Amino acid sequence: MKDPKVFLKKIGMQFDVKPAQIDKRFQKSLSPDKQDEVEEIWAMMSMNMATGCDLYPLPETLKQAAILFSHDAPRYRASLAWLRTVALASEASSVFEVGSGAGFASAFLQSEIAGVSVGGIDAIPSLVDIASELTGSEFACGNYLDTEGRPENDLVICDFGFDLANFHPSRKPHGTAVAGRYEYCPGCSEDFVPQFAPYFAAWKSWMRPTGRLAVVGRFQNVGMVLAAGRAAASCGLGLVDDLSTKLRVDTPVGKQAFPALVFEISSEPTFTPEDSARVYAR
Ligand SMILES: C[S@@+](CC[C@H](N)C(=O)[O-])C[C@H]1O[C@@H](n2cnc3c(N)ncnc32)[C@H](O)[C@@H]1O
Repeated sequence: MKDPKVFLKKIGMQFDVKPAQIDKRFQKSLSPDKQDEVEEIWAMMSMNMATGCDLYPLPETLKQAAILFSHDAPRYRASLAWLRTVALASEASSVFEVGSGAGFASAFLQSEIAGVSVGGIDAIPSLVDIASELTGSEFACGNYLDTEGRPENDLVICDFGFDLANFHPSRKPHGTAVAGRYEYCPGCSEDFVPQFAPYFAAWKSWMRPTGRLAVVGRFQNVGMVLAAGRAAASCGLGLVDDLSTKLRVDTPVGKQAFPALVFEISSEPTFTPEDSARVYAR
């Protein structure tokens, strides 16, 4: 099977390039008015008044999007390989991507799995256009939290397609609990459950009853994995243990790890601290 790096390089993603160089190349790839806009956003970012997400509406072409997202090139390489494993193990012939961005994951699965149909939804119109053109499939524009899903897909994928900045910090007093060999704050974990629940409900709404959901993201600690798993269980989704893992990535700013979870509809799903510790230890 092909290394996803081959696909990612082909669409214009830059590997082994320092972050400052990626920024320069991204700015140079933009039209003059957008070059000014990016300067303004970087200035705001340096004052903590904007985040990297504020850059997402800028790309208008696949090349520009691929350069912008090159900051996460090693992470894409790992998540695309994992998503392919999940799609193949699930014998998925229809994939729907939530928070699809420019559709890189969908396009990769399309290039790797004969006959698979893809589609998705994202809130940023220019990225939706890029995804539709890249895949030749229809991607919808909108907030998936407010959009009625069509429960007809074998596999729903979410490849960093949610923004933790929209989650509020815990309002409960901090404490310490233990899951396996990890400590976590039960208050923080509990407060994340009702915040994750609408996301899982929205993602599930695109799954057929026998379908699966594959989510990879910046679940920062075992307490957050527990919150995600419990939110999934509250929506009737149980963990598919043998496909769930933790992706380990070497990035220019150090080693990082991202829990990658698979769920399917289950009659009495549970998700315990032991489940979160087991997945988090992988
Ligand atoms: C970090 S980008 C990842 C994009 C894509 N999944 C990828 O791997 O290239 C996160 C994307 O999720 C989208 N997103 C986050 N929350 C969303 C929501 N509630 N509805 C629609 N799109 C959302 C953002 O617009 C953004 O394009």
